[in-house]
Amino acid sequence: MRIHPVEASEIFNALPDIGQVTVASPSNIALVKYWGKRPIQLPENPSVSFTLDACRTVTTLSYKKIATPSDQIDFEVLFDGVSKAAFKPKIAKFLERIKEYVPWITAFRFTIDTRNTFPHSSGIASSASGMSALALCLMQLERSVLGKMNEVAFQQKVSYLARLGSGSACRSTLGPMMVWGRHDQLEGSTDQFAVKYPLTIHEVFKSYHDTILLIDKGEKQVSSTVGHDLMHGHPFASQRFEQAHANMNRLITIFAEGDLDGFIEVVESEALTLHAMMMTSLPYFILMKPHTLTVINKVWSYRKTTGAKLCFTLDAGANVHLLYPENEREEIMKFIQSELTQYCQNGHYICDKVGLGAKIV
Ligand code: DP6
Repeated sequence: MRIHPVEASEIFNALPDIGQVTVASPSNIALVKYWGKRPIQLPENPSVSFTLDACRTVTTLSYKKIATPSDQIDFEVLFDGVSKAAFKPKIAKFLERIKEYVPWITAFRFTIDTRNTFPHSSGIASSASGMSALALCLMQLERSVLGKMNEVAFQQKVSYLARLGSGSACRSTLGPMMVWGRHDQLEGSTDQFAVKYPLTIHEVFKSYHDTILLIDKGEKQVSSTVGHDLMHGHPFASQRFEQAHANMNRLITIFAEGDLDGFIEVVESEALTLHAMMMTSLPYFILMKPHTLTVINKVWSYRKTTGAKLCFTLDAGANVHLLYPENEREEIMKFIQSELTQYCQNGHYICDKVGLGAKIV
């Protein structure tokens, strides 16, 4: 499958002189994890995620045509209304990478004004929500000029561009679940962009909750990019990639049948495997903190005594995502508040749930 660049001649003359577009795009939480990639931003295994709802980046892209476009992309970045030079290199790299697909971007001076609905220093990855928001802003501008893209092709290109900003960002564009990476049983799945999970999803998963315990809000010692890189030459890499395919296979039945015990087993195993890969890389590293393990053990004993369908997953950090169905929300929230939030930094946690993806505001 190929994403075609828009022809420059097709669009340049029709570009507006000035305008702006605002998008709100959510974060997502992977159930089968993406860990390991090959150039450029292609995953070594398929992954699937719940799209979230409350954790969002809201980005306003303002654009103004420049008199004599050059090859350079002219932009500034504001975060919470204040100029943020520190964000520029990552966005500059993103814009350079996508330029061949959206060549018209050199005709503008952009202001990218962005804010998160979750605290920036929460240890919640903002790259997925941030890059998907920017990708949709740009595609909305392209569509407003071309006015003829079909919805499927449009969504594919949004996700394709987002992927070039951050791999997991391509899974934030739609909901309630997205798949990224080729898998035999999932028609339409591809390494190039994420698609809505194409098979049956039992109702129970469409209103799932994710309460995120902010165990450690500090900057990670090892970035995801470095972690992905350490999967090259990793002694367990090929077994891990095979396992991801097998876990995806298992989830297909689990999602269709609403099998919550099966879900718990696959999701927790994926989370621990992700961290096992980090611990067995060279150099090795650990992103979990003592409180991460305390919470995991408490979840396990609570589940054993009550039979509650509560499980955890982790991303590349110490925070714990607690996943559970809507019909158990009240009981489980009582447990979280009385037994677990004491392990959060400053008692902070975020209540999120499954959502439907990026939206133009
Ligand atoms: C552990 O998408 O942050 O969250 O592609 O280098 O930007 P880059 O990495 P990133 O990796 C996320 C890894 C993960 C698992 C996942 O979301 O699937």
